[in-house]
Order: sequence, then C-alpha cells, then structure tokens
Amino acid sequence: MGTDNGTNNGANNGAVGLRFASFPAGYDSADHSKADERTVRWFDAVNLGFHEDRSIPERFPAQVDGYLRDGRILTAVYDDDMPEYAWDPAVPVATYGTMVNDLNVGGRELLPAHLVTAVTVRPTHRRRGILRQMITSDLARAKAAGLALAALTASEATIYGRFGFGAATSTARVELDTRGGLEFSAPPRGSIAVADPDKILALAPELFRAHLERTFGALGRQHAYAMRAAGKWNGENTEPDRAVRSVLRFNAEGLPDGYAAYKSLGWRNEPHTMKVIDLVAASDEAYRELWRYLGSIDLVDRLTYAEAPVEDPLPWMLADRRRYTVKDIEDVLWLRILDAPAALAARGYFGDGAVVLHVTDPMGLADGTFLLKVRDGVGTCAPAEPGEDAGTLRAELTVAALGSLYLGAVSARTLAAAGGVRAQDDALSLLDSLFAAGPAPYCSTHF
Ligand SMILES: CC(C)(COP(=O)(O)OP(=O)(O)OC[C@H]1O[C@@H](n2cnc3c(N)ncnc32)[C@H](O)[C@@H]1OP(=O)(O)O)[C@@H](O)C(=O)NCCC(=O)NCCS
Repeated sequence: MGTDNGTNNGANNGAVGLRFASFPAGYDSADHSKADERTVRWFDAVNLGFHEDRSIPERFPAQVDGYLRDGRILTAVYDDDMPEYAWDPAVPVATYGTMVNDLNVGGRELLPAHLVTAVTVRPTHRRRGILRQMITSDLARAKAAGLALAALTASEATIYGRFGFGAATSTARVELDTRGGLEFSAPPRGSIAVADPDKILALAPELFRAHLERTFGALGRQHAYAMRAAGKWNGENTEPDRAVRSVLRFNAEGLPDGYAAYKSLGWRNEPHTMKVIDLVAASDEAYRELWRYLGSIDLVDRLTYAEAPVEDPLPWMLADRRRYTVKDIEDVLWLRILDAPAALAARGYFGDGAVVLHVTDPMGLADGTFLLKVRDGVGTCAPAEPGEDAGTLRAELTVAALGSLYLGAVSARTLAAAGGVRAQDDALSLLDSLFAAGPAPYCSTHF
C-alpha cells in the first residue's frame, strides 16, 4: 500500500506547497499488462532527471516486475500549481527510490542496508531544499525501521557528504591488450561454456549470492543484473541488448561457480574491443579462468572492464602484466551510518583492541560516544558515558568519515590527514589495525 504523505507544510524551506507520496511500483488495476498511472509518471520523471529518452509504454510492465522483485519504494513529489501548458502535474517534480539489500561487512552475517536510488529534482525546482527534505525524512524512517546503515552510488561527489555519506569503496576501469591472446602463469582449471541466455537468468542470482557471501564489501543486486547478463535488458533499461553474450565457468566437479557477460563494441571500433559488462566469480579460480577465457577470444584486440577490483589479482596472473592498464578509479558505494553501535557491532574486524569513538552527526542520527571492543575480530559496541573508559584510546570523527572508514578502503590515518578524524597516533594505528588490515572491499553493484 502506498502512503500519501499529503501536502508539505514544512516551514522554512522551498518545498512548501508540494505534495509528497510514497508507493510501490504497480500495475494498472484494470489491465495488468500496463503499469499504473502514478508509476508511469514516476518513470517519466526519472528519465527526465537523468537525461534519458522518454520510455516506450510497452516496456514499463517489465520494469514494474523488476521493481517489485527488488522491493522498491518510490517517493514522488508533485507540484499541483503548474502553469497552463506545462507538463502534466501528475508527473513528479522530484523522485526518490529505496530498497534494502545485503552488504558483506566481514561479520558473521550479511548486514541489510537501506539503499537510496533514483534521486532527481526537476531543474525548475532545484535548490529549494526538496532533496534535503526527502533524504532527511527517509533516513530517519530507515533508522526507525532498524536499518544500521544507508548506501548509495553518487552521480556527483559533491551532493551527499552534507547528508553524512562518505565514499567507502571504489572500482577500477581497466583495459587489457589481448592481441595474440593473454598468457597466464598458472595452468588452466575447470571449463567454460557459452551460456544459454534463459538459463543464465536463473543462475546469475545464485552465483552472485555465492560471490556476495565470500566478498568483503559486496552488495546484493537488483533484478536488472540477471536480466542484463542474459541480454534481456540493457542495464536498467528494459530494452533487450542483443549484442550481449555470456559464459559460465565450471569447477573441477563440474559445478558452475562464475559467469562473465560481454559484448563487442563493433567492427568499426579500432582496435576491436570486447567490453566486459559483468563478471561474477564465486572463487578465485573462477575469476582467473573467466579472464583466461576472455583473453583468448579470437579477433579481439582489447578488453575493457569498468568494475575491476582496485586490488585486482588479474595483473598478477599474467605472464605480461603490462597488458593490463588502469584507466580510472571511481568511487562506488557511499555509506551513511544510521545506528553507530549496530553498524559497528555487525562489522568483522582484525585482531583485538578497544577504542572510544566520538561521532558527530549534524543530522543527529548517529551522534554520540561509543565504546568499540574487538576480540578475535568480533566487535561489540555500546554507548559510552563521557569520562568513562578514561584509559581507552579515543578518536573523534564525523559521521561521513565513519562511513568512509567503515569498510577500511581508506585508512584512519589518511582520514585524519584530511580532517575527518581527530586522534592521537596510537589510536589511529589501532583503528587501522582493526578496520583496514584485511582485504580491500570490492563492490561491483551499482543501483
Ligand atoms: C542533485 C539534486 C537531486 C539536488 O536536488 P535539490 O533539491 O536541488 O537539492 P537541495 O535544494 O535539497 O540541496 C540541499 C543542499 O545540497 C546542495 N546541493 C544539491 N545538489 C548539489 C550538487 N549537485 N552539487 C553541490 N551541492 C549540491 C545544495 O546547494 C544545498 O546546500 P545547502 O543546504 O548547504 O544550501 C538535483 O540537482 C538533481 O536532480 N540533479 C540531477 C540528477 C542527479 O544528479 N541526481 C543524483 C543521483 S545520485
């Protein structure tokens, strides 16, 4: 059921007079082969916000299906006071979407994260506080619902720091020169088969789950990923992409443990380039063997992949590591701690130690002083009274810095140099030994 939050009467902001509503995507009640009107209008607004083409109505039901599987909640902001000739006021002037998915934080269990997506405010309504209003109320609701952290992927790095998000993981855009084939130092293992597009649709989520469970920093994926690997959707766009091919990797027991999806960028593209659009491995061996396959495809001179781990084993597998070039590194996940004790207790750490963390949060969600105790990599965390635990090492940090530190992609020492963390040298060393002594986080999920 949707909730119409009614007309907004909040004082002191430019969102006054607008109408906010939240609802799941839905089908037309009279005709299930169509999306319902408010969902169609919401999609129209998102396409406008991200400068996408107008959608074809026939494609909407597939998108509704994906959104329902993802459990997305859509928020729309309406301006009923539009001038004559303006676009239908039923098209929102702002959109916002949320869903929940599991994040691997290295603990005993995956941690459900509140994911924020599809944030748009129409250019005619920008900088009037509409995003602020949507995100402030949404994050408070997510915390009240028991979610320890929120996450998003950002179109611009300047938007979300003020709302307490810190960049927490990155991926590398890489290129491989495959002329004459790539040579690997280890001998081949297992086998590869070109996948049946219908079968990979069912298998991809299973393989990704196995990847998620073993990969620190990985995040559960929305339905669009399996559709894309099968070539049935083009990313989030529900149009088929007939250029996409995919392969499965089978281990020595004959069980599938990874897949890669890729497409040729066309013969006009010199050198002839194969774009790897997704690569999911549930074992180190699967990762290596999928690349071995990709590096062996005839008539291909170059491979590109935009989602490689920053700490990528791939160049270390190659007989000629200079075939591998990092073109760019981009942030992926931005994390926003909502409940500091819950988030800190959920994480897996390295070693032992205790530290008092004083977290400042202008939005008041994760504010406070907390004692984090780690024994054998397992953390417990509870509020600490000021003056208590006097002998324990201490650090002060902003909530955005805590989001960045959380998965250890950046060290406490670097964050201290940047100003987000304030602590003595011994506390910084302890934080780094607890948070950053293990594998680098790797998240290839965009949403
Ligand atoms: C980014 C966007 C959602 C901002 O919405 P908005 O309603 O204009 O934002 P608000 O008015 O609530 O701004 C809140 C604060 O963030 C700042 N801000 C907003 N967008 C910003 C941006 N792109 N860069 C820097 N600061 C930004 C505002 O200046 C304001 O600062 P203040 O509170 O200190 O005065 C909107 O410009 C947009 O739709 N952009 C295109 C789509 C997009 O990039 N979406 C984000 C997807 S991750």
